[in-house]
Parts: sequence; C-alpha cells; structure tokens
Amino acid sequence: MDNNKRPETMERITTPALALKFIDEQVAAVREQVKDGKVLLALSGGVDSSVVAALLIKAIGQNLVCVHVNHGFLRKGEPEQVIEVFRNQMNANLIYVDAADRFIDKVAGVTDPEEKRHIIGEEFIKVFDEEAAKLTGIHFLGQGTIYPDILESEKGIKAHHNVGGLPAEMGMELVEPVKLLYKDEVRVVGKALGLPDNMVYRQPFPGPGLAVRTPGAITRERLEAVRESDAILREEFEKNGLQGKVWQYFTLVPDFKSTGIKDGKRSFEYFVVIRAVNTTDAIEASIEEIPYSLLKHITERITHEVKGVNRVLYDLTPKPTGTIEWE
Ligand code: XMP
Repeated sequence: MDNNKRPETMERITTPALALKFIDEQVAAVREQVKDGKVLLALSGGVDSSVVAALLIKAIGQNLVCVHVNHGFLRKGEPEQVIEVFRNQMNANLIYVDAADRFIDKVAGVTDPEEKRHIIGEEFIKVFDEEAAKLTGIHFLGQGTIYPDILESEKGIKAHHNVGGLPAEMGMELVEPVKLLYKDEVRVVGKALGLPDNMVYRQPFPGPGLAVRTPGAITRERLEAVRESDAILREEFEKNGLQGKVWQYFTLVPDFKSTGIKDGKRSFEYFVVIRAVNTTDAIEASIEEIPYSLLKHITERITHEVKGVNRVLYDLTPKPTGTIEWE
C-alpha cells in the first residue's frame, strides 16, 4: 500500500473526540517506529511543526530533540512563545539557536527577492546541520509534512518544505505523523494537544519571514520598523475582532524615504505599507475593507510609536495584479 496516500475511508477530523482518537493512534505508531530512539525536529513555531512537536512530546517525551532556529526574521514575540510553550509548559528538550546576526550579515546588500530566499534557505540548513552534528545517536527526523504538501509535490508544484526544509541526504528516517491530514485537521489536532489558539489558528507566515517584508536590501533599522509595525497591526486587528476573520495581514517597509514633519521639524524617513487580504487558496486574493476609523488609528499609532517611520499607506491591490507579498 502507498503510505503517502490518504485512504478513502479515512474520516475527516472535525471534532475533539476524533482528534483524540487520531492522537492515540499516532502516539502508538510513533512509539512502534522509533522505539527508544531519538527524533530530531526543526521547530519553527508554525502550525505544522508545532503540532508535530506536541504530538511527539506526548509519544516519546525527552527523546524528542527540538531545534528552534531564530533567523532574525521572526515576528515580535515568536521565539519567546516557542520557548514558553514547548520548554516551559510542555517540558520539551528544546535547543534554541539565536542565529539572527549570522543571517542578517548573509543577506546584507542583497536586493533580489529570490536570491534573498535562496540565501536564507541555505543558511537555515547549514545552521540546522551544525546543531545536528553536535548531537550523536539520532537516527530519526521529525517533519511537519501535511497532505497538501504531498499532493503538491506529486503534481510538481513545489518540493516538500521548500523553505526551512531539510535535505534528504541527512540520512535519517522520517517521522511524519500528520502527513495524511489537511490543514483544518492539523488545527483540530493541535487544539486537542493543548496548544494555544494563537499558535493553532495563526495566519500563514512565509518561511523567510520579515526578510521578504523589507523590500530591497535588509537593514536592522527597517527590520525593526517592520517588526514593530506588524505587532501594532496584529494587536489592533485582535482588539477589533479582525483576527481570525481576515486571512492574512501584515506590514512591510520598503527601502524608500520621503519627506515629512515630526515635532515641528523636517523628517526624512521610511513608510509602512499595510496589507490585509482574503482568499481561500492564495491564488487570487481580495482586499479587506478595514473600517476607515481603524485605519486612521493604526496610522496614528505606527507614525508615533515606530522609530524611523513618518507615513503609512494601505495597499489596495488585489491578487492579481499584485501578489500577496511584495517580494
Ligand atoms: P504570494 O506573495 O505569492 O503569496 O501571493 C501567497 C502565499 O504564500 C506565502 N509565501 C511564502 N511562503 N515561503 C513561504 O513559506 C515563501 O518564500 C513565500 N512567499 C510567499 C505568502 O505569505 C502567502 O500566504
């Protein structure tokens, strides 16, 4: 039997009871597969890897070794949340690698979006390999592969885990407990495993993260501006009932300055662009009609609270003609 094919009889996991049944089955299957061996897992904090981590912790506890690589392009509070949830609350064996400086140095001066992605992807593998080399006796690699990844790679649309993905030549046997699940099922399972809602229901976030939201060559100054403005946008969307309703929303800070006035003096600073889109499959997307008063309030907060920014723009372009990300 092809074990990458979802059986037609497999029931869609829509309830906590079905999720618990799935978890029990997978815990048994993982224990059967790895016995008392160790499993290594790259834990990004995204939905899929977080659910796999929680499931494997339940199955094999300290025999799971999670590696969280902070590449410096994560959103505000993300690395802290990974440490809090997995190390402090779930007692995971978690290695935290702060590689931010290393990544930022690598992409310094790089303006081409695809080159940026490539450098970040390669560096990620290097950092992970270095961590793996420090550990001995690990023969299994956990992965957050889900069913759409398998379907898309079969159709040649994308390779499995194209960003933050790990090469097959690591020579380890894969442990992929959610590979037959659709995204909505992964979320139901994550909730049943006790993961927090803002981890389970979080919006899509690209592997190269804020690196693709600082169009042009990345600087620490613009990276900080995008991180802070994104945190304000998320806070305001949450407060105003838009979290979970709008499919994806974020800010970006292009490499362009314009003239303004701050504290009665000329300012020559960057601008923040807000993007908020709705879609079902990310192939086409429409623009969320954010209430004007909220846009005004967010603009006010960003221009007063974010260093080095004197303007805010709202991108009204659907996909097509724009893509969701600017890079
Ligand atoms: P675009 O910009 O192509 O984005 O309209 C469609 C969806 O894909 C996400 N995206 C990425 N995800 N690595 C990822 O893992 C990437 O390099 C990447 N680029 C875009 C984007 O956030 C949106 O959800």
